[in-house]
Amino acid sequence: MSTDLNSRYGLNPAHSEVIEACRVVAPCSVLDMGCSNGRNALYLSQQGFDVTAVDNNSAAIDMLQQIVNREGIDNIKPQVYDINSAGLSSEYGWIVCTVTLMFLDPGRVEAVIADMQEHTLPGGYNTIVCAMNTDEHPCPVGFPFTLGAGQLREAYGGWELIKYNEDVGTMHNGARLQFATMLARKPE
Ligand SMILES: C[S@@+](CC[C@H](N)C(=O)[O-])C[C@H]1O[C@@H](n2cnc3c(N)ncnc32)[C@H](O)[C@@H]1O
Repeated sequence: MSTDLNSRYGLNPAHSEVIEACRVVAPCSVLDMGCSNGRNALYLSQQGFDVTAVDNNSAAIDMLQQIVNREGIDNIKPQVYDINSAGLSSEYGWIVCTVTLMFLDPGRVEAVIADMQEHTLPGGYNTIVCAMNTDEHPCPVGFPFTLGAGQLREAYGGWELIKYNEDVGTMHNGARLQFATMLARKPE
């Protein structure tokens, strides 16, 4: 059921960390940061979340809006937004940011994470998946931003880390790429 809309519109399934986190996070207001054309947003809407989906790519937001209109979806709000502005104006029960941080201005990432934390409701959740660049595993891709070892864990001091790892995976071309993967819960 949940992947029907994704496949109908030629979108990949939602990120595996989003699907897994839905076993922990009950339906609430969720912000999908860097939503692209909405693979996570569509999945989350079908799980009963009230989704705000933001991206600075207006073509992607237009495409998602067309799907929303065509399907009569009433729980996804697609919006053009520059994450680098760190200017969220609402609070959310869950903020999801999968494979997006590494495309941001490196000088803004600290402010972006602080803004995410500030705009998470007490007891709410943040999901982040982001590429890393470490001495052991230098990042083979020229992303504008990558996390250092332990950097994300440190940024979430005081939050409950429900899931946290800095695992190394293998890309399609055989390159090894380290990712920080986190589901964290803000104190009540
Ligand atoms: C690799 S895609 C990830 C999309 C989605 N989160 C997912 O898991 O499939 C990265 C997305 O971040 C968006 N993005 C990059 N920089 C951004 C910025 N400054 N503000 C908003 N979105 C941004 C891109 O347009 C793109 O849609």
